[in-house]
Parts: sequence; C-alpha cells; structure tokens
Amino acid sequence: MPYGTVNRENIEIMVRDFYTIILKDDILGPYFINALGDDVTKGKWPEHFHTLDSFWVLMMMGKRGYQGDPFPPHAFIGQLYLETFEQWLKLFHEVVYRLYIPEIAEKFYKKAEILGAQFINNLDITDDDEDDDD
Ligand code: HEM
Repeated sequence: MPYGTVNRENIEIMVRDFYTIILKDDILGPYFINALGDDVTKGKWPEHFHTLDSFWVLMMMGKRGYQGDPFPPHAFIGQLYLETFEQWLKLFHEVVYRLYIPEIAEKFYKKAEILGAQFINNLDITDDDEDDDD
C-alpha cells in the first residue's frame, strides 16, 4: 500500500530507495560515487542521507532541520548536463510514485522539478553545453 501521509520515517525510506537506484544508474552513479564513495554504509553517506532526510522533511512538512543551501554542492561535482537532470527527475518520479499516493508523489515531484530548473538556471546549463569549450 502506498503511503497516504508524509512523515520522517517514510521520507527516510524514500531517500534510501532513491539512492540505491541512483548508484546503479550509468549516468548518475558516477557523480555520487566520486563525491561520496560507492558504499552507502560508510564515509560521507550516512551524513548525506541525514541531510537529504532533513531537506525533504523541510520541503514536504515545513519542519526546520535542514539549514544548508542545496545549490552550491552541485557546482562542484563535475559537469552536469540537461540530460543528467532529466535522468535524476525520471528516477525520482519512479520512486515517489511507487511509494506514495499520487497526490503526495506529485507534490514531491513538483518541488524537485522547480529546484532542478533553478539549478539548471544557476549553473547556466544549456542543451549545447558540451560544445562550450570549442
Ligand atoms: C532536482 C534535482 C536535484 C535536487 C532536488 C537535489 C538535491 C540535493 C540536496 C538537497 C543535496 C544536499 C546539499 C547539502 O549538502 O546541503 C544534494 C547533494 C548532492 N547532489 Fe543533488 N539534487 C538534484 C540533482 C542532482 C543531480 C542531477 C546530481 C548529479 C548527478 C546531483 C548530485 C548531488 C551530489 C553528488 C551531492 C552531494 C555533494 C556533496 O556532498 O559533496 N544532484 N542534492
């Protein structure tokens, strides 16, 4: 049964499910392995999960906890393309629609979509980004 409410417990499940899938993804996996390593039980991963849990608790429940700025890390993790964001959103869509009822899944997805668009804007990513150095 999909979750019909949002709480920290089911956000923790969502975040871990999402990153399990992300790490196996050919496009997204390498960015996370480079930044955080390939073993989610070690190193920077537990802290990253905790950050993401708090981030989504803030986004979905309005509860304080996450105090960072989600944008800066994305400027330092390697070249990102529109395709990278599209793939991230596609996998996020799959996970939230599998775990939550559609009304809630849609709310998660919309938040991610808006933030993704801001990242793309801030990072000055365009379709022909790969040709920038030419
Ligand atoms: C809408 C899309 C996205 C959202 C909402 C999002 C959200 C976040 C948030 C909240 C953090 C934690 C920031 C902090 O430490 O305070 C984070 C970190 C990170 N994100 Fe994203 N992200 C998105 C897209 C992406 C994409 C496309 C990639 C690359 C494949 C990516 C790679 C990373 C990595 C590697 C980190 C960890 C950086 C580090 O701690 O060194 N993200 N993201």
